[in-house]
Amino acid sequence: MKILVTGGLGFIGSHTCVSLLEENYEVVVVDKLSNSDISVIDKIKKITNKNLKFYQADVCNEEELDKIFSNEKIDAVIHFAAYKAVGESVEKPILYYENNLISTIKLCKIMKKHHCNKLVYSSSATVYGSPKELPIKEDFPLSTTNPYGTTKLMTERILKDICLADPTFSVIILRYFNPIGAHESALLGEDPNGIPNNLMPYIMKVAVKKLDSLNIFGNDYDTKDGTGVRDYIHVVDLANGHLKALDKVNNTEGINYYNLGTGKGYSVLEVVKAFEKVNNVIIPYTIVARRKGDIAACYADPTKAKKELNWEAVKTLEEMCKDSYNFVKNQNK
Ligand code: UFG
Repeated sequence: MKILVTGGLGFIGSHTCVSLLEENYEVVVVDKLSNSDISVIDKIKKITNKNLKFYQADVCNEEELDKIFSNEKIDAVIHFAAYKAVGESVEKPILYYENNLISTIKLCKIMKKHHCNKLVYSSSATVYGSPKELPIKEDFPLSTTNPYGTTKLMTERILKDICLADPTFSVIILRYFNPIGAHESALLGEDPNGIPNNLMPYIMKVAVKKLDSLNIFGNDYDTKDGTGVRDYIHVVDLANGHLKALDKVNNTEGINYYNLGTGKGYSVLEVVKAFEKVNNVIIPYTIVARRKGDIAACYADPTKAKKELNWEAVKTLEEMCKDSYNFVKNQNK
């Protein structure tokens, strides 16, 4: 089977390409390199000893997409390509709505033109807003608090309408919790430019002394130790979830939604302590005010994915911390 992976050189996309190649799928990547690096292709090839095809193109560009679908006989698409920084989306809503919505609309249009009707879509736990109850189930009410999250929710609705109008079109929506970790080879991982927004990339920069100290945003939440609780999931577990979703999308009709999380919530302090212990480093930190828009706790009920996709996360927080550190050390050698 030939799979088109949009945004295939990004953090989750690159790990998914590795999993696909390891399972002998043919992989075609389209990526505009706005938040990824061309060197990732060689790293994927090195890890898998297999080849992939790469097109540098913008998924918003209908003509370029059309050419790719004419050149390749694509059987299914995994659609990662999107802008993903929450803070930036608040400052640049037009950019986020234009990029994240138009790309999916153009993609679906060209898929239909070429009779490709299987899609796995990257959504996010952000679509649950501030959940009233925990753990979060797929049928919980949906709402968002920033333009990035709204692009994810709006895209889910667009895909639902496409499936309603065309019963041959099938979509799996994957709602990710907090992906961290890196490939065990230390070749692939997340290394944002500048000052990271997310917890693990920030801890990684402190660990290699590129930043002095972590700011912990609040210790007065109603959680086990007062710091925010999240469902951190190893990116390799997450990547494997996409292969299970592919199996499912090939054998179902309509639209289906799955949480990809571990079901376990860890606090910021627990993550810091685990990172320090497993890597034998010190992460200096300061408690500062809460970050605007943050919720106290968020973790998945992953039982639907286990039952219907035959998937569950297996890697521990310690493995996530170890692989993240090995990757960042390798980057900064
Ligand atoms: N945190 C800190 N200091 C930091 C960064 C984060 O204390 O420097 C805390 C946050 O307050 C929060 C936890 O660490 O309690 C996790 O924060 P992240 O920024 O790593 O992740 P979020 O849960 O805020 O958001 C992430 C993604 C979103 C996605 C969401 C899905 O960034 O894109 O998970 O649940 F929508």
